[in-house]
Amino acid sequence: MPPRKTILRALAGETLPTPPVWMMRQAGRYLPEYRATRAQAGDFLSLCYNPELAAEVTLQPIRRYGFDAAILFADILLLPQALGADLWFVTGEGPRLSTITSQADFDKLGPVGDIHETLNPIYETVRILRSELPDETTLIGFAGAPWTVATYMIAGRGTPDQAPAHALKNENRAVFEALMDRITEGTIDYLSKQIEAGAEVVKIFDSWAGSLKGDDFRKYALEPARVITAALKAKHPGIPVIGFPREAGDGYIGFAKATGVDCVALDNSVSADWAAKHVQVDGCVQGNLASTHMVTGGQALVDETKAIVRAFSGGPHIFNLGHGITPDADPDNVQRMIDAVRDT
Ligand code: CP3
Repeated sequence: MPPRKTILRALAGETLPTPPVWMMRQAGRYLPEYRATRAQAGDFLSLCYNPELAAEVTLQPIRRYGFDAAILFADILLLPQALGADLWFVTGEGPRLSTITSQADFDKLGPVGDIHETLNPIYETVRILRSELPDETTLIGFAGAPWTVATYMIAGRGTPDQAPAHALKNENRAVFEALMDRITEGTIDYLSKQIEAGAEVVKIFDSWAGSLKGDDFRKYALEPARVITAALKAKHPGIPVIGFPREAGDGYIGFAKATGVDCVALDNSVSADWAAKHVQVDGCVQGNLASTHMVTGGQALVDETKAIVRAFSGGPHIFNLGHGITPDADPDNVQRMIDAVRDT
């Protein structure tokens, strides 16, 4: 028997001498080979829905760097599209969707049972990846968390403070909660199909969890993550789940216990020393180098990488950035980071 994959060992709670490493957005515009394949596909969404090319860009950073995990190339906004929202990307600006601000808008969405018609190419990408990835590389599937997905579906775009979603929550809670429930149900089915196609771990991205406070955090960040995790584990016993309640701050404390996730991904607004003490006590953590180091590089990149590895060395840890790598990053800095992780 070959040794179990390092990421799966860390997720099972093992403290490894060297943490496994991968990077959010590791298939992305900082890589010339990604830009070439994206140009071949035509645009970002065409790339997501083209299984051969989506598998190709997923594999590019694995070939170049030998990361311990590959993350399926797709986007958290494909689920809203599959639920019936219009979706397009404006170059240089980001995603745009039809908005949901009333019961009538919500009623235009389709049933969860219909999502797979749109999402089938994504499951095909997962199948291709499972047959093409090296034996030691873990395949991670993902979806957005209901709150983060809802913020885009309500506002029709990314917003700095998620004000439109907060407004719907406060002024028309019935529609807001119906939307959260629809997304939650869709996410369970979407992730289940990714697992059936070969995803070995799933990650739930709650990029805007930090704007939920107090009871709202409990109801709309913790509770959906708990429901999704429980449903997935009931259907697929043993499937590891990574939760990423970005910028949750003190909300990271107890998150794994409250939701049942196997690992909590940390952004870089919390220090590794703090998180080792308050979050890693409950199990595996992932993170949390500031992605700006991938642009600036130098000795600071090496020092900070080693400091994070050291801070988390007493427990299970998967090395990652605190958020996605940006298009202006230098590909050589990624190699420096990996070298620093692997020879500390
Ligand atoms: O991490 C990975 O490499 C896996 C693939 C992945 C993408 N997006 C590819 C992508 C994942 C996990 C996501 C998640 C995602 N998408 C989130 C949550 C995580 C986060 O970053 O906060 C959100 C909020 C989105 C929605 C979205 N998609 C935005 C805001 C943008 C940025 C638009 C831009 O032009 O920068 C995207 C586009 C996107 N998703 C790109 C990639 C590689 C860039 C697209 C391109 O090639 O032009």
